[in-house]
Amino acid sequence: MRVAPAEYFGFLNEIKDVSLPSAHDFCAGVPAGTLLETTIMNPTTTSTSMLRGKELTRRVDIGALPKVLLHEHLDGGLRPATVIELAAELGYKGLPTTDPGDLADWFHRGAQKGNLPEYLEGFEHTIAVMQTPETLERVAFEFIEDMHRDGVVYAEVRFAPVYHTARGLTQEEVIRSVIRGLRRGEKTYGVEWGLIVCAMRHMKKSLEAAELAIRSRDEGVVGFDLAGGEEGFPPKKHVDAFQAIERANFNITIHAGEAFGPKSIWQALQFCGAHRLGHATRLRDDIEFLPDGTMKLGRLAQYILDRRVPLEMCLLSNLHTGACKDLESHPFGVFFRRGFRVCLNTDDRLMSDTTMTKETTLATEHFDLSLNELEKLSLNAMKSAFAHFDQRIRIIFDRIKPGFAAVRTRLAEEERQG
Ligand code: ADE
Ligand code: ZN
Repeated sequence: MRVAPAEYFGFLNEIKDVSLPSAHDFCAGVPAGTLLETTIMNPTTTSTSMLRGKELTRRVDIGALPKVLLHEHLDGGLRPATVIELAAELGYKGLPTTDPGDLADWFHRGAQKGNLPEYLEGFEHTIAVMQTPETLERVAFEFIEDMHRDGVVYAEVRFAPVYHTARGLTQEEVIRSVIRGLRRGEKTYGVEWGLIVCAMRHMKKSLEAAELAIRSRDEGVVGFDLAGGEEGFPPKKHVDAFQAIERANFNITIHAGEAFGPKSIWQALQFCGAHRLGHATRLRDDIEFLPDGTMKLGRLAQYILDRRVPLEMCLLSNLHTGACKDLESHPFGVFFRRGFRVCLNTDDRLMSDTTMTKETTLATEHFDLSLNELEKLSLNAMKSAFAHFDQRIRIIFDRIKPGFAAVRTRLAEEERQG
């Protein structure tokens, strides 16, 4: 039987994914990342694969590497100048300042209060200026333009349509306007995308949002999420919405383990059927770190590792919301090296003053990552995307692998030339 090359190699990648090293391997003095290197075929170079951390970010343009973003809020990523222009267009008078630099600072300061409810306060202003077809389309187009500039080849962006009806739009009109902007962006820049509809944890309208997501799936909506303040709003309260999504054979991601512990993650998976988890930072509470340097996974962590549940991790946002007090205590490195299917994300580029390039640079330098490990992160994300399988395979083989291969070739050439 003839096997199509892309599918064949896609299959091999799954196998390699399963054969990641054990906790013992990594916690018994094996240098960080060493065994992960063996999981990716890299015929061009040996010494370039030794580059890691700050040496890597010095030699390689992280912005140009093909990256994949699965977790970004449309209303959390506006450009400050756009917020000001749209406020003027709509006659919105609520902005704290009309200077773009000052407004950017205002959002960043507001986001760094160390708790999620205060982090979310800035959204009042971005949502206020996204209330007409034109403003929604512009924000969506600029999102794709920003992704292109950030080296992102595929992006999933999410928002809650229910927040954008203050000036009389229906939720369908809201979605259609956003999709128009995303399509125009894709046509101009070639960045592929998927849209995720959010329900809000503190609202009672999640079933309505789920039905809207399902109705819009052929237009570009790829999944359903539950966002907003986590503590006091357990995901299982929205189980009817998630069951509707499951009955429609559709996709679920849930913010969980950001401002609340493993119980929220457990409910998201086992009551609500989440296929991916937003953040899951507090999964670290289900892992015991033993004095000999090894770790003992709790039942939930073991399940998530075994089932390859994708974890959409957001480093800077986690520092700003207090999910983690600093990068030293962030579990990203531990999860990655233990073989969890993690990927890097921005969450809210405006509030957290971030980009995919910034998150990737931060992760590379702080967790001492290599180029192969960065490729692994892009592959983890692309494999976990809600795009259909064929599209995922195409992007992996047409964009991600050739993009990383070109960098390896260049590094090897530089090394040959001394
Ligand atoms: N909406 C925007 N950012 C969010 C976050 N970090 N957690 C929950 N809901 C959000
Ligand atoms: Zn989020």
